[in-house]
Amino acid sequence: MSRTIILHPEGTVARPRAVMPAGPATLTSLPPLSVYVHVPWCVRKCPYCDFNSHAADEIPERAYLDALRADLEQSLPLVWGRQVVSVFLGGGTPSLLSAAGLDELLAMLRACLNLLPDAEITMEANPGAAEASRLRDYAASGVTRFSLGIQSFDDAQLKRLGRIHDSGQARAAIEMAQRAAERVNLDLMFALPHQSLEACLADVRQALSFGTEHLSMYHLTLEPNTVFAKYPPDGLPDDDLGAAMQDAVEAELAAAGLRRYEVSAYARAGARSRHNVNYWEFGDYLGLGPGAHGKLSFHDRIVRQARARQPESWMERAGRHDGSHIAEDRVVRAGELPFEFMLNALRLKDGVAASLFAERTGLSLAAIAHQLEAASSRGLLDADPTRLRATALGWSFLNDLQEMFLSTD
Ligand SMILES: C[S@@+](CC[C@H](N)C(=O)[O-])C[C@H]1O[C@@H](n2cnc3c(N)ncnc32)[C@H](O)[C@@H]1O
Ligand code: SF4
Repeated sequence: MSRTIILHPEGTVARPRAVMPAGPATLTSLPPLSVYVHVPWCVRKCPYCDFNSHAADEIPERAYLDALRADLEQSLPLVWGRQVVSVFLGGGTPSLLSAAGLDELLAMLRACLNLLPDAEITMEANPGAAEASRLRDYAASGVTRFSLGIQSFDDAQLKRLGRIHDSGQARAAIEMAQRAAERVNLDLMFALPHQSLEACLADVRQALSFGTEHLSMYHLTLEPNTVFAKYPPDGLPDDDLGAAMQDAVEAELAAAGLRRYEVSAYARAGARSRHNVNYWEFGDYLGLGPGAHGKLSFHDRIVRQARARQPESWMERAGRHDGSHIAEDRVVRAGELPFEFMLNALRLKDGVAASLFAERTGLSLAAIAHQLEAASSRGLLDADPTRLRATALGWSFLNDLQEMFLSTD
């Protein structure tokens, strides 16, 4: 969680101008490549959710898979010859895909891309849309890791959150997923309406009782354009209680051997999400499906892409094979790279090796020397010159620290 701090006497964050090369990045090596596939449908839209997800009684699976193939085929020239280290099927609710549909999807990725034999393949699943035989089939098709949207084990909370599952289904889904695959992540939310510190810890303890290796803990946020933003629920914990929950959760999980390694992620040794770590280390990812974002590096430039957001529009446009399903496709300016890199890297509790900055952005560390010095003299950045890592203070005021790397060019 990040609290607001005024870092500058005028009440704004100091933003020293960096000396940036005018031209694009020059990379000597390309980062690891991941693939993200977005499945945009859910049984029902949750009132707090601002993801690109749409309620559907039945998903147009055939049309979706055909469009995905078209999207993938048109993307291939951008990733020729590169190895893929991980795949993430996110949503929405990917577990609405039939076992045969998921099998076809993964076969398509394998046929077109150079997927490493030990690639991590994560699938998000909703406890209200998961059954044992389907989870087993997904795993047999190649899914190595399930990520379950549990949110809470408290039936009253699940109801308030508009979830389609109850706590019994949550527990059953965890057991099914753990039997089907070796690796399972659980998503929990905290700072829920009328939630006490004890109730928050009770959720964490229930999650741990399954021998969980990875937990994602999200502070409930009221996102713009959601039902909760328009009609905020009663009894939301105040900032102090939210912060106390965060601290208590971290201590409880540390005692159980799950270390907080990123703002919202906790894992046992060796159980980190390789896919997400690649994002935070400013690796590359090809984003397929409606609204999916991608970042791809080339020796002379870094490109960001976004697909058309509306599922129908993306499907129709991908089928035209003219690139019109790509809503945004732009070279990232050199001046944007320090902030983009730091936005990700500083989310990792251990930060990253300082050398990764040049490796991933093509810029010299000297380009951000002023910002590094300013951040470290304010006690926000670790003084160790071989790492880029927030201090405990910097971690508490992460937004402000990240913003110090914004620059204009
Ligand atoms: C794309 S959803 C995951 C999977 C699946 N759709 C589900 O909900 O079961 C990713 C996770 O983000 C979290 N999340 C979504 N909206 C949130 C919000 N407004 N505040 C906090 N966490 C949120 C939830 O924990 C959710 O499981
Ligand atoms: S099930 Fe997940 S993606 Fe779908 S609306 Fe709810 S939180 Fe969003």
